[in-house]
Amino acid sequence: MSILIKNGTVVTADHTFRADVYCEGGKIAAIGENLNIPASTEVVDASGQYIMPGGIDPHTHMQFPFMGTVASDDFYTGTAAGLAGGTTTIIDFVIPKPGQRLMEAYEQWRDWAEKSAADYTFHVAITWWDDSVREDMGTLAREHGVNSFKHFMAYKNAIMADDETLVKSFRRCVELGAMPTVHAENGELVYQLQQEMLEKGITGPEAHPLSRPPLVEGEAANRVVQVAKAMNTPVYIVHVSCKDSLEAITRARASGQRVYGEVLAGHLTIDESVYRSKDFDFAAGHVMSPPFRSKEHQEALWQGLQGGNLHTTATDHCCFCKEQKAAGRDDFTQIPNGTAGIEDRLAILWDDGVNKGRLTMNEFVAVTSTNTAKLFNMYPQKGSISVGADADIVVWDPEATRTISAETHHMNVDFNIFEGRTVKGVPSHTVSRGKIVWCNGELRAERGAGRYVHRETFAPFLEAAARQSEVNKPEAVER
Ligand code: URP
Ligand code: ZN
Ligand code: ZN
Ligand code: ZN
Repeated sequence: MSILIKNGTVVTADHTFRADVYCEGGKIAAIGENLNIPASTEVVDASGQYIMPGGIDPHTHMQFPFMGTVASDDFYTGTAAGLAGGTTTIIDFVIPKPGQRLMEAYEQWRDWAEKSAADYTFHVAITWWDDSVREDMGTLAREHGVNSFKHFMAYKNAIMADDETLVKSFRRCVELGAMPTVHAENGELVYQLQQEMLEKGITGPEAHPLSRPPLVEGEAANRVVQVAKAMNTPVYIVHVSCKDSLEAITRARASGQRVYGEVLAGHLTIDESVYRSKDFDFAAGHVMSPPFRSKEHQEALWQGLQGGNLHTTATDHCCFCKEQKAAGRDDFTQIPNGTAGIEDRLAILWDDGVNKGRLTMNEFVAVTSTNTAKLFNMYPQKGSISVGADADIVVWDPEATRTISAETHHMNVDFNIFEGRTVKGVPSHTVSRGKIVWCNGELRAERGAGRYVHRETFAPFLEAAARQSEVNKPEAVER
């Protein structure tokens, strides 16, 4: 099975050039002009289009059992929708219940993910602590290709990691050469503010942002940056939604700390007024944490992305249908938190980023694919158009348009936060491991075709952090 993508312009994170791309055996086998290829090769004509690395979504939750229900997109439907939107790899989350062995949860998620249509890999969440957690982190990092661990500073009485867990886990990450990642919101403050809202009789979705103001996120981001500094580890903050946490990252980076930030397509484009809609389904459909913010925060997030203090874009794809959201009709704290977006991220980033001059095409590739591949040590297997890389490619038509709607999207959810938006710039073709899986509106996703991506520990900056710890190690005074 071989394909030739012809007459297009290759766009990578660092340059743009005219070339054809030949894929064979699931890999990119040649890049150039006038390539000598077998006669049986299928040809994709990319005239007037861009040939870019497939998107990598570093933050998804397929079929996640959460808040008394299960996310409606499973690993097949969710990854298939991703392919329709040009995303060819996801990093999903293994989330053990407090007290559950990490290995048991990991095996469970691996089993669920076997039906994936696109490649996948996992961050593993640290939701509790004891010696078995320490041991399983080692097994996962050394034997199972897990090089990142996630910490929820929110969701008190559920999966929240307290400061003791954060410190112990970050220390372990340094030993293993793994990246600690965090959901930064002060879980105690959120919990108390939620109780206050309910006591005041504010029980609808409008109470969601009121109980999670930006300072809640700012406090946690500032705290975790200091914890990372004390442990001498890089840290990656997921779904940065506001100025308060962006400023914590910016300050830390200015002082030489390796702190990385992720931003969601939704946080860049949707504002908090959605929670004040009189339509419960609409308002609840937007309930996710952290909540959508005011325009002022959105502008700051774009600046963070442009200025290099935010590094990756994601979706936090975690779908719940109207019927599932209705569990919180009388109590907003019971509305399952999460929104969909895996199919729309690239188009939203292109339309609001590239078309508006906020991002160059190369920056677009960096923030939708390459930076994630580098941070989570999958580069250049993923996130690059280079000989030997996996043939995960999106052929991008900058002139074509699409009006986003739950009526026509491929995600298994009856709501779309970008409903009605017309975007200019869409994938004409998506290639996953050398196969055409999306062709001008036709989805050819194959159940189970996706493969698990094994990620080695000690990415270069984690290796540097380990060396720095060694150089600066404390010494006793001999007396
Ligand atoms: O509301 C959200 N974001 N749901 C998914 C879990 C998380 O916090 O990432
Ligand atoms: Zn989160
Ligand atoms: Zn999430
Ligand atoms: Zn085609």
